Amino acid sequence: MHKPSAVDASADAPLTPRQRQILGLLRAGKVNKEIAQELGIGLGTVKQHVVALFKKLKVRNRAMAVTHGMEVRATAPRLTGDGLLERRPCIVLSVALPDSAPASAGRLLHQTLAAYAFDHDALFLARRGNAGDLIFGVQRPREHDLFLVLRAAHMVYHALANDDALATALHGGLTAGMVIASMNRHGGWSGEAIASPAIAQARELAHAAQPGRLALGSSAADLLLALSPCAPPPAAPEFFAFQALDRFPWNAGYEQQAPIGREFELGHLDALLESTTKGERRLVCIEGETGMGKSRLCRYVAARCAQQGGCARHFICAPGDNGALVYALPAGQPATSEDILAALKATTTARPEAVIVDDGHLLTKDVLTEIARQAADAVGRLVLVAGRRFAEKKIATADETLRLSRLSQSATEQLVARTLGLSDASPLVAKLSRDAAGVPLFAIQLACQRERGRLPLPLRFVIGARMDSLGLDHVLLRCVARQSSPPSLDELAATMDTSIAAVKTATALAIASGVLHRDDENRFSFTHPLLRQAVIEAQVE
Ligand SMILES: Nc1ncnc2c1ncn2[C@@H]1O[C@H](COP(=O)(O)OP(=O)(O)O)[C@@H](O)[C@H]1O
Ligand SMILES: [Mg+2]
Repeated sequence: MHKPSAVDASADAPLTPRQRQILGLLRAGKVNKEIAQELGIGLGTVKQHVVALFKKLKVRNRAMAVTHGMEVRATAPRLTGDGLLERRPCIVLSVALPDSAPASAGRLLHQTLAAYAFDHDALFLARRGNAGDLIFGVQRPREHDLFLVLRAAHMVYHALANDDALATALHGGLTAGMVIASMNRHGGWSGEAIASPAIAQARELAHAAQPGRLALGSSAADLLLALSPCAPPPAAPEFFAFQALDRFPWNAGYEQQAPIGREFELGHLDALLESTTKGERRLVCIEGETGMGKSRLCRYVAARCAQQGGCARHFICAPGDNGALVYALPAGQPATSEDILAALKATTTARPEAVIVDDGHLLTKDVLTEIARQAADAVGRLVLVAGRRFAEKKIATADETLRLSRLSQSATEQLVARTLGLSDASPLVAKLSRDAAGVPLFAIQLACQRERGRLPLPLRFVIGARMDSLGLDHVLLRCVARQSSPPSLDELAATMDTSIAAVKTATALAIASGVLHRDDENRFSFTHPLLRQAVIEAQVE
């Protein structure tokens, strides 16, 4: 955690040297008597000083005095090297056992969390009293962070499961929010400072949670709803049982409405489904970036099968330690890649028939090759494998690939208008649609949260996950974002206080990554307004 230094000058009322000395001793954890001894003054005098100090700092107690200035410092500390402070999206899991639990149980809890943090690039905060926190997103936000956090909670439960009383006493809290962290110039936590109200919130939720339960903060519920590949449940449950966390979260059947602006894909998939009733087979890959609607199409096909009295076996993959974890939808129970292969071979009389594997890009090449091989013999069935991108060698034998491109402007407007509950194309609809740039997830999120004027948290995760993996120069991005008109190389070199050659290298990488764009006059700007907004909002002055 971020440690304040001993000297603390409040702008309107500077502390006297004596008061500063006393504040330093308070921060060192000394009681009044020890302070009196150390400074060689009377206890009464110490008390007078402390009262005057509290007054000046406008605090009521020692704890407040000791932490006074942390917020100030968290927004403007001096960092070593070329580090920066950034506001980043984070997910925090806090878990605790009752104080009465034996120390060995607390140690096991810590060990499990620490190992999980190590494996998944999270930060682990060990706390006294059998409690600990995991923070995801500071090192590198990823689209699957929420899933990883829920899995961490289940792992802790699992580690304690030998002792029934302990496992059922475990309680936890889960929140999502923003964290201010000291970052290395090209990403990753520098280790100097970290502060977030989300940490305290997660702890409070954990504190209030019933035994055996993980309490979900509203922002974490929003995130789950926005990023879950499954249909949202009718009402968000406030609590999860630790015991049930081995299931894939949010599974509540399939929505009835067809996706907007995907007429070609829907028609094509419908025709393929229809052809399975005549004994034909087909292996189709669906490719697209996060939020383009892959999972939505998978659900559509599953729902169509069910409507027509057919049979769809629907799986979803998530990142695991060795390859992917597999779950069977819609219930979300754990499954294996063997189950996928068995589904390809299973015989039913129900028609049409489909086997659907969502986020299949997480499977190993061997499993994908085997799926493709089995699919070639899967007479009378449509096999759909959806994923971010399948490198040629990963699933070479697919019959075809449907690459989900951006929605048209009019389809995006329709989606925004429907989400907003507006019927016509108002100026707001037009603006949000332009910002969404044809990505359905962006359209829905921007429409849902338009009034806040800030990027919705799920979008910060999605954008952060993409941008942070690129290792770009954050100082450069800030400089470009801050300018009201696109800067030139010379202007950037001057603002960044560096050589033109260095700026050239940094901009070349940003351009190659699709984040910056160079215009005809050799000036730089962001390729998308949301990227610029994300950089501006990450900035801490
Ligand atoms: N064409 C569409 N029409 C309406 N909603 C859509 C469409 N495509 C995606 N969505 C919605 O956008 C969000 C993201 O889509 P999703 O299918 O989860 O994307 P992906 O699986 O490609 O990451 C979901 O809430 C989904 O229901
Ligand atoms: Mg998906």
